[in-house]
Amino acid sequence: MPQTIIVLDFGSQYTQVIARRIREANVYSKVLPFDTGIKEIKSLNPVGVVLSGGPASVLTKGSPKPNRALFKLGVPVLGICYGLQLMGKLLDGEVQKSQLREYGRSNLRVVRKGLLFKNISSSLTVWNSHGDCLTALPSGFRALAETENSSFAAIEDPKRKFYGLQFHPEVEHSESGIEIIRNFLFGVCKCKADWDMGDFIESSIRSIREKVGQKRVILGLSGGVDSSVAAALIHKAIGKQLTCIFVDNGLLRLNEREEVIKLFRNHIPGKLKVAAAAARFLKRLRGVSNPETKRKIIGKTFIEVFDLEVTKLGDVDFLAQGTLYPDVIESVPIGGNPAALIKSHHNVGGLPKKMKLSLLEPLRELFKDEVRKLGRSLGLPDSVLMRHPFPGPGLGVRVIGDINQQRLKVLREADAIFINELHKSGWYGKLWQAFCVFLPVRSVGVMGDERTYENVISLRAVTSSDAMTADWARLPDSLLRKVSNRIINEVKGANRVVYDISSKPPSTIEWE
Ligand code: XMP
Repeated sequence: MPQTIIVLDFGSQYTQVIARRIREANVYSKVLPFDTGIKEIKSLNPVGVVLSGGPASVLTKGSPKPNRALFKLGVPVLGICYGLQLMGKLLDGEVQKSQLREYGRSNLRVVRKGLLFKNISSSLTVWNSHGDCLTALPSGFRALAETENSSFAAIEDPKRKFYGLQFHPEVEHSESGIEIIRNFLFGVCKCKADWDMGDFIESSIRSIREKVGQKRVILGLSGGVDSSVAAALIHKAIGKQLTCIFVDNGLLRLNEREEVIKLFRNHIPGKLKVAAAAARFLKRLRGVSNPETKRKIIGKTFIEVFDLEVTKLGDVDFLAQGTLYPDVIESVPIGGNPAALIKSHHNVGGLPKKMKLSLLEPLRELFKDEVRKLGRSLGLPDSVLMRHPFPGPGLGVRVIGDINQQRLKVLREADAIFINELHKSGWYGKLWQAFCVFLPVRSVGVMGDERTYENVISLRAVTSSDAMTADWARLPDSLLRKVSNRIINEVKGANRVVYDISSKPPSTIEWE
C-alpha cells in the first residue's frame, strides 16, 4: 500500500484538482467526504490530511465540519481556503466575514518561509476565492504570509504540523502553488513519491472487480480517448464480463468504423458488438435542418439502438462510461470553472431508467491528460490517445442544413484530406480540434473549360485548453493553400474552401 494523503472534500470545485496535484507528485491521494468517520480515516493510516476549500461559510450554523478528533491524530494537516477557516474556527482562532470578498488574483507577501515556502520567492501572485477571513490565530499558530486583505493568508503551527493557506495553491493561476503543495508533501509529511499510474491501474482493477463481482457490464465505445481507455481498463479487470457496443450512426468520418474495430481487435481483446444503424439515423434525419432538432433525433435514436443491443445481450447489470472529472464538474455552475456546454449532448448518461443499470465510471476522478497517461500505460496507441474530440452527433452537426448521403460523402472526403495534411505538417498535435464543415451554399467556379456550381467547405481549426474558450489557429498559408487545392481538385462536389476565423466566445467550436 503506498503512503496515503487524505483529501477531505468540503465541496470546492477544486477538490479533485488538489488530488491531481498530489498524484502528479507521485503520491497516492484519496478524496473522502468531509464527514468521514475518524475510524475510517485512521484505518487508511494517512501520512497527511488536506482540508479542501468549499462554498460554505464556517460562520453559518450547520456548515460542513470534520470530526474534531482529526486534529488529535498526530498527522500533518493542510487547510486550504475554507479548510484554513475551519482550522481557525475549530482550534480557537477567530473568523469573521470580511468587508471585501477576495476573489481572483492577489499579491502574497511571505513573512516567514517555514517549511511551506522553502525555496520559494517571497512575493507571489496567488488566486483567492473567499468571503470570510481569519482574524485571530489559534494558539500555537503564527503567520507565514499576508495579502492586502488578510494578515493570515498562510499560517503554521510547526509543533503540531498544522498549515493553512487562504488562497488556492492547486490552481494554475497561483504562482509556485505546486511547489507549495510539494513542500507540504515532502517537507512536512515526508512522503516518498512511491505512487504512479501502474498503482492506479492496480487499485482500479481491484475496485472494479469488487463492485462488479460476476455480473456483466456494457460500455458504449465511440473510439475516442475516454471510452477507449475505460474499455481497456475494465477489460483488464473483468475480461469477458465486459461487452462494448459501437453504434454506427452513419455520421462517422471516413473509415472510422473500420478503424475503431481494428483498434479494438489489436488492443482490447474483448467482446465488441457493432450496431449498424446508419439507415435508421439517416431516415429520421431526412429533411431536418434545425440543429437542436437534429441533436435530439440523434440522441434519441442512439438510446434506442443502444437499448436494443443491450436487450439482445440479456442479463446486464452495469453501464460503464468514460466520464472524466471535468464532465462531472461541468454540471456545477460555480464561477471560474468550466460551465455546462451549451448544446444538448447525447451521451449514454441519458439512458432510460427502465434499463436499471448501475453506473461504472472508473475515470471519474481523472483529468484528460491523466487519462492519456493511463491509456499509454494500458498499451493504447497515440492515434487514439491524441485524437481530437469528436462530438456525439458526429457529422450530423457538421453538415449544415439537411443531411444526406451525398453531402456526407463530400464532407468525409474533404475532412480526411484536411486531417491528413495536418498530420503530415505536424500541426495536428498542436490543435485542440480541426475538421471540415459542409455548407449548403453553392458557388460558381471554373475547372478546365467547364463552369462548376458546387458546395462550399469550411475549414475549422482551433487551439484551446478546455473547449470553454477557443481561438482560431493561425495555420500557415502554405498549408491552407495545399488543403484548399487538394479538396477542390480531389473532392467531387466542392469547388470552394473557406477558413473559419471565429473565436469562442462568441462563436462556438462546432457550427451547429
Ligand atoms: P462547442 O461547439 O459548444 O463545443 O464550442 C465544445 C466542445 O464540445 C464538443 N461537442 C460535443 N461533444 N457531444 C459531445 O460529446 C456533443 O453533442 C457535442 N457538441 C459539441 C465539441 O466538438 C467541442 O470539442
